[in-house]
Amino acid sequence: MKDLWSISTSEIAGDKESIMRRGNVYQIANGYMGYRGTLDEYGPEEAVGITLAGIFDRVGSAWREPVNAPNGGFTRVSLDGVELSALGGKVRQHQQTLHFANALFERETVFASRAKTLTIKSSRFLSADIPNLGIIAFSLTCDKAAKVTIRTGVDCNVWDLNGPHLLQLAAEKRESVLLVQGVTNESSKHVVVAEAVELNFGAETNETQDNRNLRVINLRAEAGKTYRFIKYFAVFTDNDPVGRPLPEAAIATVQQARLLGYEVCLGKHNAEWDRKWERCDVKIEGDDEAQHALRYSIFQLLMVAPVKGSANSIPARALSGQVYKGAIFWDTEMFMLPFFLHTYPEKAVELMRYRIKTLNGARRKAKTEGPGYRGAFYAWESQETGDDACSYFNVGDPLNGRDLRTHFRDKQIHISGDVAIAMWNYFKLTGDDSLLLEGGAEVILECARFYYSYAFFKKEKGRYEILDVVGPDEYHERVNNNAFTSMVAKETFAIANAAVDHLRRNHPKALGALLTKIDIQGELRCFGEAEKLLYVPAPDAKTGVIEQFDGYFQLRDATVEELKAKMVHPNEYLGAGQGLAVPTKIIKQADVVAMLNLFKTHFSAEIKKANWEYYEPLTEHGSSLSACAYAMVAIEFGNLAFAYKYFLKTATIDLEAKYKVYVGAVFMGGSHPAANGGAWMTAVLGFGGVEADENRIAINPRLCAKWKSLQFNLAYKGDNFRIKITKTSVTITPSPANPREHTLLVAGRPAKCSPGNPVTIKYRRTR
Ligand code: BGC
Repeated sequence: MKDLWSISTSEIAGDKESIMRRGNVYQIANGYMGYRGTLDEYGPEEAVGITLAGIFDRVGSAWREPVNAPNGGFTRVSLDGVELSALGGKVRQHQQTLHFANALFERETVFASRAKTLTIKSSRFLSADIPNLGIIAFSLTCDKAAKVTIRTGVDCNVWDLNGPHLLQLAAEKRESVLLVQGVTNESSKHVVVAEAVELNFGAETNETQDNRNLRVINLRAEAGKTYRFIKYFAVFTDNDPVGRPLPEAAIATVQQARLLGYEVCLGKHNAEWDRKWERCDVKIEGDDEAQHALRYSIFQLLMVAPVKGSANSIPARALSGQVYKGAIFWDTEMFMLPFFLHTYPEKAVELMRYRIKTLNGARRKAKTEGPGYRGAFYAWESQETGDDACSYFNVGDPLNGRDLRTHFRDKQIHISGDVAIAMWNYFKLTGDDSLLLEGGAEVILECARFYYSYAFFKKEKGRYEILDVVGPDEYHERVNNNAFTSMVAKETFAIANAAVDHLRRNHPKALGALLTKIDIQGELRCFGEAEKLLYVPAPDAKTGVIEQFDGYFQLRDATVEELKAKMVHPNEYLGAGQGLAVPTKIIKQADVVAMLNLFKTHFSAEIKKANWEYYEPLTEHGSSLSACAYAMVAIEFGNLAFAYKYFLKTATIDLEAKYKVYVGAVFMGGSHPAANGGAWMTAVLGFGGVEADENRIAINPRLCAKWKSLQFNLAYKGDNFRIKITKTSVTITPSPANPREHTLLVAGRPAKCSPGNPVTIKYRRTR
């Protein structure tokens, strides 16, 4: 039977691309850093990377990207003078496993050399208890007496896409701790790595050549004896509020960990992971494949969730590397946040604080992107300051090496509304308005202000229009009245008005101070008017289909296959100036359908069906965000079989790692946290039919054929519920710690839920 809590392989990825993909699949992370799933002896050639959250650097005019730390996990072993590597052709057996329960990566490799076999085992984790800390237990056993040399320490040869980012690298040994320090190229931020070992065999010397700070342990290994040691490494940067020199903090961290020892540190780490799974696991009975893939997806999200108090967010390729500039896109608010909001609000708040932290960057962007833009225009690709990392030429043409002008940065304005909607959802589902007072309301008002400055009032039609934008479908740029964008903008005005109302009623003083601070009192009336008068393309009276943007219906009919057949390069980009999709109706990803999903209560099942059926054949699904939107809308009108197919497509994307790794000439191979979030959304909000707003939680289950039951937790307004859905009933178990009673709606029937008392409601499937 398949182990539903791990992945495992006995194959060694041999070529560069497979090694890169394998590194994504087997990565571990703890929100502070991600450690790619590579082997102990690997180096930058094998794309070893310890990618840090929230620290970025730029070299020359290359793309800014996150900084990779020197690898404190490095170990290489020689047997009778021959260096061993899994890539060196001497492997007799290999097994590697990644455990979801506690984000532990293990490998065991048997090498055969000179009539001897040597077995290496290692187990690695990044502490969920102390975010700066990583620990590796490493052991070797030789079947015959042999001369063994272990080189272990910090490898400063880091894998960089656009580096090197760390300058003035200095290596030293302080007492028994190896230390490496460097500063980033652009803003001289310090990065420090310390490494300590618990090792009690062999003779140790030191080596600082080839850009490595290593201990060299020479050993006459006895036949059959196992030599085990533990490595503790810590990474600190100027972003860490440690209040003392970073080297001291790093040294103290590894020394304290060493004092506690591997088992104790692992115990604390495991306890943190138990708590995460206790809250966030989803159980599917009857479908192991879906269970495994969904659990892996949730696992990915839990690993990369920001550290408490960091106000960091999750990049589009998470912490799997520097790909996509380590930037935060709308992916986080629209695809990842729902998971955290419904299960782990303490993480959701960090994601939202990140947008508050970067509000000034969004203001700067509005001013410079102009003309006349005001308020907050959030970065399409956001890094630590909120200034836009997206360039005007963001895709390379693989045909001729030229950069293509794209308008993601200057025209994909739905990003600001995505942020405002997320901020408001946080308030609606947690019932906690402190975030609004901390800056959330300011974000919302500044986003509304931005849209008001962007909107155009068409006198002859007596309405506002949002013109010259890029919607989620990036193949059609500079379009007018994109339904998704306009709907999001309209909602932003509505939210701004509601936020002002809420503050007026509950925090009048704070509202007064905010309105004065950003001098917006005079504009509030405009937001009211814009909410009413902003035009959003409506469903066609006959067909029910919503035109994606003005003129879309006049574009050339085509099929995805036709376009693909015309491609002259496998990585050719279908959008931008001359892109093959531009004159056609072929779209990159869910656009109108993404809108129907986001605003699902605004549209009937018939409208959803009509649009889904119209747009699906025209969609390339060229983005990992697309399939889950189609899956969720398909559920709304009862096409569960299709939804299931797309659910699996979304949930297995990072497990199977068959995704494309180039957009145009740009390398973008890495993990897909938005799809991971999409998998959770499809399972719980889609098949589970959960819909929560500020007033109540409603559950209208639509389990797919294979699933006997679906179990998950919901956090709502500070309280917690365990939900079990079968084909005929819903059982709600409110946590005994809930301070109050709630009424949930199950298939339209009210279910009173008092703390600690399970309630079961029978229902009849309607579709
Ligand atoms: C998609 C965007 C997405 C970005 C990062 C692009 O390919 O079109 O919608 O935000 O990837 O995932």
